[in-house]
Amino acid sequence: NAETSSLKQSSEYVNNDLKNMHKEINSLFTTSKPELKEISEYYFDGSGKSIRPLIICSMARALNVHHHLSLNPNEPIEYNKVLLDSQKKIALIAEMIHVASLIHDDIVDASNLRRGKPSVNSKWGSHKAVLAGDYILAISSKCLAQLGNTRVVETLSTVLEDLVKGELMQFGTKENENERFEHYSVKTYRKTASLIANSCKAVAILLVEKNGESTKLSAKNEELVQQAFECGKNIGIAFQLIDDVLDFTSHSDKLGKPGAGADLRLGLATAPVLFAASKYPELNAMIMRRFANDGDVLKAFNFVIKSDGIKETRFLAKKYCENACTILNKLKPTTSSNNANAAQATPSDVRRYPHDAP
Ligand code: FPP
Ligand code: MG
Ligand code: MG
Repeated sequence: NAETSSLKQSSEYVNNDLKNMHKEINSLFTTSKPELKEISEYYFDGSGKSIRPLIICSMARALNVHHHLSLNPNEPIEYNKVLLDSQKKIALIAEMIHVASLIHDDIVDASNLRRGKPSVNSKWGSHKAVLAGDYILAISSKCLAQLGNTRVVETLSTVLEDLVKGELMQFGTKENENERFEHYSVKTYRKTASLIANSCKAVAILLVEKNGESTKLSAKNEELVQQAFECGKNIGIAFQLIDDVLDFTSHSDKLGKPGAGADLRLGLATAPVLFAASKYPELNAMIMRRFANDGDVLKAFNFVIKSDGIKETRFLAKKYCENACTILNKLKPTTSSNNANAAQATPSDVRRYPHDAP
């Protein structure tokens, strides 16, 4: 039907947006140090899912079409020109921040498998891994500054702050069982959802602010920025909840990283465990000692499996997805009649959206 073909067409545009993403990222690593270049490029090889760039480009396109239709309801849309160069840069920057944080995370977690291959720390050692992560972050910061929009710089800098705070929060839990879920939720936002939420916010800011001019946003525009943020936040939390489920239900050969209880082995009590603890209170003491006693990991794993923890976590993730859909449904739809004017997108066709013209 029309909706399905419109959806298919939209996903083709986003696929095109992302076609050369890794090449473009790798071209930013202009260092003359061959090993630093090799490590920096290591994960930008198509081995990742690129889920963040996909969400960010999709969000940017949805916002741009909505904005265009709000301003010029009768003017046809050239879909191949909808995505702004600056918005696409946000997708690249977000992927770079993500990869830098994974390189550091694998050092913290002493993990030797990532994206189906040896992790950077296991291949080159932790010292070089720290520095390569820093380098990728430095290049992403330069790229961000080049967009020339202070609010966007601040928005994505907040992500870096959140990532560090979220990672640190993971080392602690709350004595009080009622506070534990709140602690986990804040941690989940900071560690995972903040990057997606703030990147969605950044593409919205780039749409409604003209080329970084610090204009005071109109109420409608500011609402759109907040909607983008909230939608990204809900998607991000749902994503992490399912990631936490997969740690119980999937194996490393499928995940491309350690699975089947890896979080428990790191001492982490994620949503499935917290839900399971209401049925099996024996889990509370294990949570507090971070599953450190002999046999704790296996016992906790089995409690989770025989509880409703997995089911409840999936249910919660679905709720967050529904919240995201509710927000998205407030945007004007990309209808098939709008799509009738669409030309096939080619990567070189990614140009400025008319309202962002200098
Ligand atoms: C993966 O989590 C890790 C993160 C999403 C963030 C890690 C953040 C830091 C190490 C702070 C430093 C930040 C920067 C920007 C350099 P996980 O260990 O739960 O997931 P995994 O199973 O993929 O390893
Ligand atoms: Mg970790
Ligand atoms: Mg990890």
